Amino acid sequence: MGTDRVKKVCIVGASGKLGQYMVRHALERGYEVVGVCRERSVPKLAAFEGRMAIVPGPTNDPDVIRRAVAGCDGVLTVLVPWGVQQYASGTAQAVLDNARPGARLVFSCGWHITRDGKDKYSRMFTMGVRAAAVLGKLFRAVEIDDQVEACRRVFASDTRWTMVRGSSLEEGESQGLPVWSSHVGDPVLASNLTRRVDFALFMVEALTNDTLIQQAPAIVGCLTPSALAHNGTSHDRA
Ligand SMILES: NC(=O)c1ccc[n+]([C@@H]2O[C@H](COP(=O)([O-])OP(=O)(O)OC[C@H]3O[C@@H](n4cnc5c(N)ncnc54)[C@H](OP(=O)(O)O)[C@@H]3O)[C@@H](O)[C@H]2O)c1
Repeated sequence: MGTDRVKKVCIVGASGKLGQYMVRHALERGYEVVGVCRERSVPKLAAFEGRMAIVPGPTNDPDVIRRAVAGCDGVLTVLVPWGVQQYASGTAQAVLDNARPGARLVFSCGWHITRDGKDKYSRMFTMGVRAAAVLGKLFRAVEIDDQVEACRRVFASDTRWTMVRGSSLEEGESQGLPVWSSHVGDPVLASNLTRRVDFALFMVEALTNDTLIQQAPAIVGCLTPSALAHNGTSHDRA
């Protein structure tokens, strides 16, 4: 899809940190922006008043999503595992079911999501994810398994999706478009750090990058030591 064909985008989870950066990037590109966020989070988008439309409501509510994605050429969705309410899978399903056929669908998640089981994780990383899953369930705060299910549904769909898998994140000014690999374990990703603003940049850029359709790029900051040392030498990236 060429840039000229994206005119209107929906950002699902617009009030969060990643969401607000995406709103900013999308407005800078001149896109018409519709944001979805929980009712109580609408004030977080006050800085964009008059420049975007907001559909308040839970992102896993199909009616909310149906109204928000109407007429959108692209949908950027923040998949989060919060609560024990199948929030991530409900959100992904609502987007898959209601976005117009042919729309570009870009989702966010973390490196812990694997599409084909060929990612290679350090023992420390695996233990961290397991601990978060167990503790999250115990305290009924986080449902990692449901984020996995959300991604499984996206991977199984025949829509024009991209699943952007974020490394550890930090705040700070943009360094530019992150580099990516199809698989965690690629040396280019070893630094495991991306500025959140650049994660958002990658998501928005993906809307117009057809080579990312039905891909699950794992990203890392372009100025991190591993990116500088290995970018252009990996066999894994497209
Ligand atoms: N944080 C990391 O280190 C990290 C690392 C790798 C990948 N990622 C991925 O990056 C994306 C953004 O993550 P982030 O950590 O940076 O968060 P974020 O951008 O601040 O977004 C958090 C989102 O979760 C919503 N949320 C918070 N609590 C909720 C609840 N109890 N019920 C329902 N929704 C709730 C927020 O909505 P409100 O505005 O309404 O609160 C917001 O839309 C996610 O896809 C995540 O998997 C994060």
